[in-house]
Amino acid sequence: MRPLAFVVVAVTFTAVAAAQTRSNPPLPPVQPIGAWTPVPELPGMGRPVDTAAVALRRRTVAARIGRGVVLVPAAHERDIERDYVQDNDFRQTNTFFYLTELETQDAWLLIVAGSDAAGTVLFLPPRTPAQERWTGLRLGPDSAAARLSGIARVLPSDSLDRILSAVGRPAGPLYVPLDVTTREESRLKELVFGGRDVRNLRPLVDSMRLVKDADEIARMRKAVDISAAGHVAAMQAARPGMWEYEIEAVVEAAFRRHGADRLGYPSIVGSGPNSTTLHYDVSRRQTRDGDLVVVDAGAEWGQYTADVTRTFPVNGKFTPRQKAIYDLVLATQQTAFDSTRPGATMAQLDRVAREYMRAHSGTLCGGQPCDAYFIHRLGHWLGMDVHDVGDYGTPLKPGMVLTLEPGIYLAAEGLGVRIEDDVLVTPAGAEWLSAKAPKTTAEIERLMRR
Ligand code: GLY
Ligand code: MN
Ligand code: MN
Repeated sequence: MRPLAFVVVAVTFTAVAAAQTRSNPPLPPVQPIGAWTPVPELPGMGRPVDTAAVALRRRTVAARIGRGVVLVPAAHERDIERDYVQDNDFRQTNTFFYLTELETQDAWLLIVAGSDAAGTVLFLPPRTPAQERWTGLRLGPDSAAARLSGIARVLPSDSLDRILSAVGRPAGPLYVPLDVTTREESRLKELVFGGRDVRNLRPLVDSMRLVKDADEIARMRKAVDISAAGHVAAMQAARPGMWEYEIEAVVEAAFRRHGADRLGYPSIVGSGPNSTTLHYDVSRRQTRDGDLVVVDAGAEWGQYTADVTRTFPVNGKFTPRQKAIYDLVLATQQTAFDSTRPGATMAQLDRVAREYMRAHSGTLCGGQPCDAYFIHRLGHWLGMDVHDVGDYGTPLKPGMVLTLEPGIYLAAEGLGVRIEDDVLVTPAGAEWLSAKAPKTTAEIERLMRR
């Protein structure tokens, strides 16, 4: 995938103009801000923007680069003929969303560092009433967009030339989000930017995304709460003989019923032997009495995702053996949580967890200590991406969100247990975000009895 990545970026830059002429010839005349009929409500335009939060993020970007220009394209609508569209046909790019919270397609954000708010420009495609018969109302370059986005200067993005002429000859580098390696980056600069000083915006924005602000944490709490409701629903519905896909349907129906925008990642519902396959996601087996079921499923809400795993007996009652393995995983997770505090690192938490599991394995996993069967890392950053961006060497700080997800996978026995929770780092330590999903064997059995 990597070698193609730079082509995608290059295409982004050239395709905007092409797509505009291809899909809406002829272009409507450019409307100045405020010229469109005011639209009091903009259904389908996404949720309210926390304008103060996004303005602070943009100011931070400008301050960190000091001098230069930032140019960020929004995502394009996906194409139902060419893409595998599985849910909404549009999801904003995370970088654009982080800096605007707008769920609008084919937009561009320009930030001129070193200037005040007037140095930020939002470019939006002109509204086309004929297209809106298909799409519903769209945000256009008008005063409603300025009000909703908190960006005072909103201009039409009717051509790439207009955007690039607004960029002008920047004093300083041009920062764009590039999903490419350094080697590809230099090639890209030659190909697309004619050797200008073009730099990748991603490392800066990605590092900012590590520490979540209040608005992001509120979004994550919502995504996690919805996810917990899905796990509760799965436990309540599970019966021996159900197909994995039926359990998956229960989880995902609950997500949508509670307002999830989409799944954060493909749901994993692995029963019996499938509980030992880490990312088993086809859900085609019929459960049997005595199976454990690993359900790893997270809802996305407001661009942020949860990542929660629960393991339960499909018949509602853990066997003594299942309970013993389960309780070791649970205690390992608790030990990692107890060490989660500002200043700790992911590597330290991982070590603490493995050492605990090893020291408390006894003969539970046969000739080897159980950590030999804990075959993935303890956790990862969580945010707009399920495996969120950011340097894994960064010591924890308040506002960071991570998963703690130890597991033991005994393939020979068809017995897998993973317990995964989402954890917010606080000044004093850490907070379980996903505590609403029952977790002890007693809690799970009690819920499943009802
Ligand atoms: N759901 C994917 C993971 O836990 O990393
Ligand atoms: Mn995870
Ligand atoms: Mn997971």
